[in-house]
Amino acid sequence: QINHLKRSVATEKKRKPENMLSIGIIVEELFGLAVRHAYPDLDDIPVMIQGSSKFADYQCNSALVICAKLKAQGVKLPPKEIAQKIVASLPESEYFSKVEAAPNGFINIDLSKDYVSGQISSVLQKGPSPPNVGIKKRVVVDFSSPNIAKEMHVGHLRSTIIGESLCRLLEWVGHDVLRLNHLGDWGTQFGMLIAHLKDKFPNYLSVSPPIKDLQAFYKESKVRFDEDEAFKKRAYEAVVKLQNGDEAHLKGWNLICDVSRQEFQKVYKRLGVSITERGESFYQPLMGAIVKELEEKEHLVLEEGRKIMYIPGAPAPLTVVKSDGGFTYATSDLTAIKHRLHVEKGDWLLYVVDAGQNLHLQSIFDAGVIAGWYDPKQARVEHVMFGVVLGEDKKKFKTRSGEVIRLVDLLDEGVKRAEMKLVEKGRDKELTKEEMKKAMEAVAYGCIKYNDLSHNRNHEYVFSFDRMLDDRGNTAAYLLYAYTRIRSIARTAQVSPQQLKEAATKTKIVLDHPKEWKLAKCLLRFPEIILKCLDDLLIHTLCDFLYEVATTFSEFYDSCYCIEKDKSGKIVKVDMSRILLCEATASVIGAGFHILSITPVDKM
Ligand code: ARG
Repeated sequence: QINHLKRSVATEKKRKPENMLSIGIIVEELFGLAVRHAYPDLDDIPVMIQGSSKFADYQCNSALVICAKLKAQGVKLPPKEIAQKIVASLPESEYFSKVEAAPNGFINIDLSKDYVSGQISSVLQKGPSPPNVGIKKRVVVDFSSPNIAKEMHVGHLRSTIIGESLCRLLEWVGHDVLRLNHLGDWGTQFGMLIAHLKDKFPNYLSVSPPIKDLQAFYKESKVRFDEDEAFKKRAYEAVVKLQNGDEAHLKGWNLICDVSRQEFQKVYKRLGVSITERGESFYQPLMGAIVKELEEKEHLVLEEGRKIMYIPGAPAPLTVVKSDGGFTYATSDLTAIKHRLHVEKGDWLLYVVDAGQNLHLQSIFDAGVIAGWYDPKQARVEHVMFGVVLGEDKKKFKTRSGEVIRLVDLLDEGVKRAEMKLVEKGRDKELTKEEMKKAMEAVAYGCIKYNDLSHNRNHEYVFSFDRMLDDRGNTAAYLLYAYTRIRSIARTAQVSPQQLKEAATKTKIVLDHPKEWKLAKCLLRFPEIILKCLDDLLIHTLCDFLYEVATTFSEFYDSCYCIEKDKSGKIVKVDMSRILLCEATASVIGAGFHILSITPVDKM
């Protein structure tokens, strides 16, 4: 068995030389084997590995569990003896410098300096490469998904930020990702909008109407809809015509969608989001067949003129066809899930949607299983939910007058505040106009994204510009400054990129100082963090890690000289190994930034 693992770790290394090995996982696997080898008759022994303690880099606590199990079987053994047996069963490897059973039964594990140093060298030469995630998956990510003519609000901002970052994470480890914008572009609101459009801009077929402010337009039409019976009737007629593919109505619909699309695109461009539009309307022609299929499989029942689908355990059924024959949000989601599974061949579907829609989505997922479209043991279908964004008054995030905050305004405000911060620090005097603009945007958008991503997405969070732009604490502002500073260290030492490249292959990374050792070990946890994020799709773990890297770096930098200068300020000594450790730190933070979609700048 142990040989088998030795082999599998070895082949793993051979097969994917480009993958960064996850040391935590190696420790777990090796100890798992040792435990099973030492106690083959006991089953279900958890391999309990703990990260660095006061005494060691890792600690294995399995002996205590085994001790209790044996006791239950009437065998009394001191924990230390059990621990020793596990240690004796451990296969030989290059990873550890010391593995020792403590008197209390804990096993203290120290990593080998040569191993860690070699790994840092490989990060320097190849960059922090992704861990091996096994078979490449086809992942369909539904995110952002605002509604045409209605406002794109902070909830959609959350979905956009979280979705973009998850896509980057999945792509980075090598999955095949399809990013979909499930735009709300086919609701009954279009009847109202088109009827209003016909009245206000009767020649809309030949001249593009100037509806810059689609939201105002939407409001006007809504007022008419609620007050004017004749208008209401025309609105309903317009929906029917649109749904039947009438050309003039389609043209009106397209005009309206275009206005929204341009608005959304502005936000995506500023935030560096790429996404394919595939709104509810895309599924319209496929819906009839879905209804037919569900009917034939006898999953639909007729109640008060509606065709509904009962889902065991759900508080309410899904309305699949309304009494007027129209389709619903659920119909488009049912059609979409099948399309994503069967046409797009997705084996992992993600829906980055606010927590308020959990019951709806859960019903859709269950319906997909009931209809036989997928086996939940084969395909992973998940609602990646998130909590609401609150204002500083801890109430729903709104403008002072109670209006929904427009995203474009929010981004503008962020850039303005970032500029103020930079000016406060006198940076405007040192940076060129161009550099200043880059820095302002990097800080503003980076902070807005990081502020969102660094909170556990299941919780609500408070939107506060002051807090997110503070360069002390776990913020993008802090990390961006740290990154820029680390990147400048080699420059200050007058080491050229070419020299760095050469040194990366020739200079051994020395890890004798406790702070060097701490930093190097911290950096090597990166692949573990990535694997954890892939597992629970909680990106804040990556943010916490980057913050830990930056603070651990700071400790290192405070106590380890990288350059020595004489009294006149002339550089007299450059510690190349330490300069390289700085570079490795920057490249890990850089890889993290990429996943978080944060753009670092050279100067700020
Ligand atoms: N347009 C919806 C909203 O704004 C979100 C769509 C989410 N995706 C989905 N497949 N239902 O609430």
